[in-house]
Amino acid sequence: MDNRPIGLLDSGVGGLTVVKKVMQKMPRESTVFIGDNAHIPYGDKSREEIIKLTRQSVKFLLSKNVKLIIFACNTATAAAMATIQQEVDQPIIGVIQSGSLAAAKTTKNKHVAVVGTQVTAASHAYQQEIKFRDSKVKVTELAAPKLVPLIERDADYDTCLQAVKETLAPIQEQEFDTLILGCTHYPIIRDEFRQVLDKRVQIIDPADQVAQYTYNVMQRDNLFSAPGAPIRHEYYTTGDAAMVNELGRNFLGDPEFNARHISEEE
Ligand code: DGL
Repeated sequence: MDNRPIGLLDSGVGGLTVVKKVMQKMPRESTVFIGDNAHIPYGDKSREEIIKLTRQSVKFLLSKNVKLIIFACNTATAAAMATIQQEVDQPIIGVIQSGSLAAAKTTKNKHVAVVGTQVTAASHAYQQEIKFRDSKVKVTELAAPKLVPLIERDADYDTCLQAVKETLAPIQEQEFDTLILGCTHYPIIRDEFRQVLDKRVQIIDPADQVAQYTYNVMQRDNLFSAPGAPIRHEYYTTGDAAMVNELGRNFLGDPEFNARHISEEE
């Protein structure tokens, strides 16, 4: 048994989509989340910069005594996970392996599309992971740089719908039957994706599989909290806490949601 919290990180509010799934799957676990809103987006930064920023968030989570860390960010998973895994003792779980597994299992016509940030698309991490599971699957990767800023500023439905339409336009004629939301921000506008996509296309949110995988690792390593241990959820941001709170309260449906601002030195 281990009563320490699960740590999660992202460049912004997108990671809350993973926090939500982890809380649903393991309601007896405490969590600490850090969103690096001061440096968002990660999706157009260099690999070195992403490693540096992610390392800072990991350091912060370790100062909160976490037992395991989830990179609730595809970009950080693609660019920084392999490096940082070698630097810390705690298990680190990313979102790309889980999303790839779910997609490889779901596709019937063996054609999967992935939308993500520029860094995630250019890394071909999804393509490699999916092909590792089933080499016959065709993987179409698409960068969607417009979406994260809209989601971070809580843009309205029609604005996001229009941006999703424009984003998917280059691949709309292709015959994929499965689409991975390869950025943890996108599940926040899942309805807009659903509206634009053909009804036959299955949408994969990697967070579902991440929550299950985390559960499996915790079971294997005996990391679950003891029954009756106090449960706490803490949220931190390097950016503007008021913005994060507005989105967090809506998205998690929790009026008590309260993110605290931390400075970069903390
Ligand atoms: N939420 C992050 C991801 O999953 C990306 C946002 C960003 O560009 O910083 O890739």
